[in-house]
Amino acid sequence: MPSDLSEPLIDASLRGTFGRPFQLLDVTDSTNERALEWMGEGAPEGALVVAEQQTAGRGRRGRTWESRPGDALLFSLVLRPSGPAEVVELLTTTLGVACAEGIAEVSGLDAGLKWPNDVMAGEAKLAGILVESRVSGGSFGGAVAGIGINVRWPQGDEGRDFATPATSLAAEASSQPGVSVPGRAELLGAVVSSFEDLYTRLEDPETREDVRRRASDRSTILGREVTVRFGDGSVVEGRARELTASGALVLDAGGSSTILGVGEIERIRPS
Ligand code: BTN
Repeated sequence: MPSDLSEPLIDASLRGTFGRPFQLLDVTDSTNERALEWMGEGAPEGALVVAEQQTAGRGRRGRTWESRPGDALLFSLVLRPSGPAEVVELLTTTLGVACAEGIAEVSGLDAGLKWPNDVMAGEAKLAGILVESRVSGGSFGGAVAGIGINVRWPQGDEGRDFATPATSLAAEASSQPGVSVPGRAELLGAVVSSFEDLYTRLEDPETREDVRRRASDRSTILGREVTVRFGDGSVVEGRARELTASGALVLDAGGSSTILGVGEIERIRPS
């Protein structure tokens, strides 16, 4: 079967300035690691690393990110945000919106967002986002934005072993009328273009409010009772009320509200 991810296809799919220059790797440890290294060597903003396969794909909280060779879209973008701190604070939320909207554009799937950074098809995880920053000489040296989208794997049963069940575009296309599986280069072009459009306007408070609203509209947790787990193992339960201007979660719990900048939704109770 001809590959849906080649240098000519990627070149043809890129619509703006982001995504260039790019490297397409057959096998690498982690596209985030390669992009961080490239950033250190002076790669410009928007430079892109794409891989068919990762041997040490990284997920949040030190987890690994697994994918079957050729069946996922794995890429990282070099970012050099300047401007106000709010731009950096809203990066993950902006990537989530871009990823969900890019997926919707080329597959027809109405993708959701589970705070802070999971892209969902219903209650199952379709894609993950990992932003990693570098500080050099005490100042912010840039960031890489890594995205992994399950395109053809897992197909269903394999995903049920995870704490959050996983799905893929192929699995969704087989059960949802109107959903199709796009070529990975086409998907890449749509997500990168959607992100460039938002990110390059993030210094404008109106764009940030637009991102917050679009993330809220796609949220799978707002208005629902959730359990949030923190890095130290502690948990808090409450009703997810809204997202703040910086993408933090406002949780109503025990008669007061708490603003959460980090955490992981462990459980969502039926609404
Ligand atoms: C998560 O949900 O835990 C985040 C997963 C992020 C995975 C992507 S795959 C491409 C990029 N390279 C990595 O090593 N990780 C990100």
